[in-house]
Amino acid sequence: MIKFKKKSLRGSSKRWIQRKYNDNFIKKTKQLNYRSRAVFKLIEIDKKFNCFKKNHNILDLGSSPGSWSQYLIKKGFKNILSIDILQMEYIPNVNFILGDFTDNKIQKKIFEKFHEINIIISDIAVNTTGNKKLDSYKTNSICLEVLKFSFKYLCQKGVVIAKYFNGELEKNIIQYSKVNFNRFKIIKPLSSRKDSKEIYIYCEK
Ligand SMILES: C[S@@+](CC[C@H](N)C(=O)[O-])C[C@H]1O[C@@H](n2cnc3c(N)ncnc32)[C@H](O)[C@@H]1O
Repeated sequence: MIKFKKKSLRGSSKRWIQRKYNDNFIKKTKQLNYRSRAVFKLIEIDKKFNCFKKNHNILDLGSSPGSWSQYLIKKGFKNILSIDILQMEYIPNVNFILGDFTDNKIQKKIFEKFHEINIIISDIAVNTTGNKKLDSYKTNSICLEVLKFSFKYLCQKGVVIAKYFNGELEKNIIQYSKVNFNRFKIIKPLSSRKDSKEIYIYCEK
């Protein structure tokens, strides 16, 4: 357990730093050379649903810094298109588009690259403001857009996995999935921090 003696750190900041340093997933992230501990959430989801298949065209939304794309490449997937409003450091064999997923111009670029989409994974979360209602509203609005896009453009039996937050619009997300997809499941990966409001929804077309 790492202890911090610096007097200048306030109690909550100290606890945050200690938790970060002592977080096993962070250690493992470094050992395995991933860019973010977020990778462990996708690993759990993959183990549970086993939905990625060879030759699948995979769209990775909110991809930066890139651990989900790294994982897919390590697993041998070849057709990955990643999108983020933040730059993503190059990953060999991953196509990256810098831009906002909700922008029509960016969605056009997706169709230029993929004529068929088999899987959409979205870890999109907007920058938090501290206002929990507003934060969950903003992230969940995008999650709903991801689900609507998936319903429209995923191929038959295609899968979408998308992050949302417990809170505003959560009911709309669940209702939309129930009505429009053949099967849906909700998953809170063990690697997701307990105090985080994030949850993932898995839907099959
Ligand atoms: C939790 S991070 C994703 C981590 C990523 N899955 C990984 O494994 O490295 C959330 C990302 O969503 C991105 N994001 C937020 N709004 C977005 C939008 N409208 N379009 C695309 N990306 C967005 C953020 O820039 C951020 O990089």
